[in-house]
Amino acid sequence: MPFISLEGIDGAGKTTHLQWMADFLRAQGANVVVTREPGGTPLGESLRALLLSEPMHIDTEALLMFAARREHIAQVIAPALARGDWVLSDRFTDASFAYQCGGRGIAEARLQVLEDWVQQGLQPDLTILFDVDVAIAHQRVRTHSDPDRFEQEQQDFFERVRAMYLHRAAKYPARIRVVRTDRTIEVIRNELAAMLKPLSAN
Ligand code: TYD
Repeated sequence: MPFISLEGIDGAGKTTHLQWMADFLRAQGANVVVTREPGGTPLGESLRALLLSEPMHIDTEALLMFAARREHIAQVIAPALARGDWVLSDRFTDASFAYQCGGRGIAEARLQVLEDWVQQGLQPDLTILFDVDVAIAHQRVRTHSDPDRFEQEQQDFFERVRAMYLHRAAKYPARIRVVRTDRTIEVIRNELAAMLKPLSAN
């Protein structure tokens, strides 16, 4: 069954829509595994705690993201797909390109090597990129009481992250669909349902 990743800058609203998508698919009888990155496994969640709090070299950050991903694929994603379940992942590799390359400035070619190593061709069947102006997203994140290491970044960081996400959406139009979240929940849900329907038919 399909492997779907959800992406977007912090504050774009993806997490709100993730649960709804899972409920929507389950109502149609699908077995859905909801998971997230960094994380998704006990080891991955430990790495997540470090990644969100501990200062580190940008290469270390990228390597730990992919280490967590390797475990996530081995323990969760590949077994779920082999069972015939749907997988909905709150972030996947597009986040590494957006944050570690766009945001932090690592060359894309260097991450490409890690992607090939860790994924061996595995890609989401569909990636939904929740997109909104950085100023709006930043406003939403600033209301968080305890911002993590990424949420503490300035607006120009998120402009670069967003630009890389949109660059990838243009580069992989068959896989990545952009959903603007500065519209009503109802309009967004209708759009999401229309994207999921053809996949459920498989
Ligand atoms: P996020 O998914 O926004 O979780 P929450 O909604 O609970 O805040 O947090 C994960 C953070 O990790 C987010 O700021 C983006 C960052 N990240 C990367 O920098 N690279 C990656 O490869 C992934 C998966 C996430």
